[in-house]
Amino acid sequence: MNILLTGGAGYIASHTLISLLESGYGAVTLDNYSNSSPEALRRVKQLTGMEFKAVEGDAQDRELLVRIIRENNIEGIIHFAGFKAVGESVEKPLMYYRNNLTSTISVIEAMLETGVRNLIFSSSATVYAGDNLMPLTESARRECINPYGWTKYMSEQIIRDAAKAHPELSCVLLRYFNPVGAHPSGLIGEDPSGIPNNLMPYICQTAVGIRDHLTVFGNDYNTPDGTGVRDYLHVCDLAEGHVKALAYALTRSGCDAVNLGTGTGYSVLDMVNAFERVNGVKVPYVIGPRRAGDLDECYADPAKAEKLLGWKAKRGINEMVCDAWNWQKKNPKGYKD
Ligand code: NAD
Ligand code: UD1
Repeated sequence: MNILLTGGAGYIASHTLISLLESGYGAVTLDNYSNSSPEALRRVKQLTGMEFKAVEGDAQDRELLVRIIRENNIEGIIHFAGFKAVGESVEKPLMYYRNNLTSTISVIEAMLETGVRNLIFSSSATVYAGDNLMPLTESARRECINPYGWTKYMSEQIIRDAAKAHPELSCVLLRYFNPVGAHPSGLIGEDPSGIPNNLMPYICQTAVGIRDHLTVFGNDYNTPDGTGVRDYLHVCDLAEGHVKALAYALTRSGCDAVNLGTGTGYSVLDMVNAFERVNGVKVPYVIGPRRAGDLDECYADPAKAEKLLGWKAKRGINEMVCDAWNWQKKNPKGYKD
């Protein structure tokens, strides 16, 4: 069975591609490489020893999607394509709304035109409002504080409405918590452009000497050590979650939102300390002011993923920091090396 991965060369998609190929699916990737490199796909081929088609193009292009689906007998789509930088979305909201929403609409239109029924969508824990109690269940109140978040919220709504109007569709909205780490081979990993916004790539770039120190954004949060608590999740666990979600989608119809997280929260200092201990390297840091929009803590109730998809995260914090460092060490400049 052939699956189309929009944004297929990206960080999470490239890991998912490995899991799909290893589970016996055929795959086609569509990416405009706006935030990725075709080198990631070359390395997936090297790692798996398997072939797949890689198309360069825009996921907003409905006719291109229809052509790819027809030419390759696509039976399911995992829609990863989108812009994801929160700060940039505040500066360029229309660019975010156009890319992230138009691509979602085009994917659904192409599915309806060709009879593809199964859709897995990359949503985010960012759709949850800041005033919920932890852990977050899928029914927690949703509200966003930046355009990036709203594109996920609105895409979810668009997919939900389409599934209601077209009952043959089977859609799973995967709400990722904080994906980190890399494939244990060190061949593929996260390759942020410019200065990383997220914690783990910043820790890695500090440890390798690209940045001279990490700034911890606030130590006066209502958490055990005062620094922000998040639900970090190994990207290989997340990749396996997509394969499970696809298997689930193939057996039913409708639309479900599912959290993908571990259910365990770690603070910024927990992550720094684990990174130093496991990898035997120093991560110099200073305490700075809070970052606007950050919460004290955010972690998942992952029970629905286990019940519905039979998925549970298997990898712990040591594997997360070990594999993140292995990738960074071997590829200090990411795919540019
Ligand atoms: P990524 O930037 O590495 O991957 C996205 C890919 O989509 C990139 O390869 C990019 O070139 C491609 N792309 C963007 N717009 C496109 C378009 N119009 N047509 C074709 N390709 C396009 O990001 P990622 O971290 O792998 O995230 C994948 C998805 O998961 C995104 O939708 C993101 O918003 C979502 N997500 C990510 C996180 C995270 O922490 N990384 C958390 C929650 C949700
Ligand atoms: C951020 C985004 C969120 C997005 C998620 C995954 C914001 C406000 N939120 O969430 O919308 O879905 O990434 O892409 O940008 N930290 C530091 N120093 C750093 C970087 C981070 O102390 O240099 C801290 C943060 O304050 C936070 C934790 O590390 O407590 C994790 O930060 P990050 O990796 O950016 O993830 P989120 O804040 O969960």
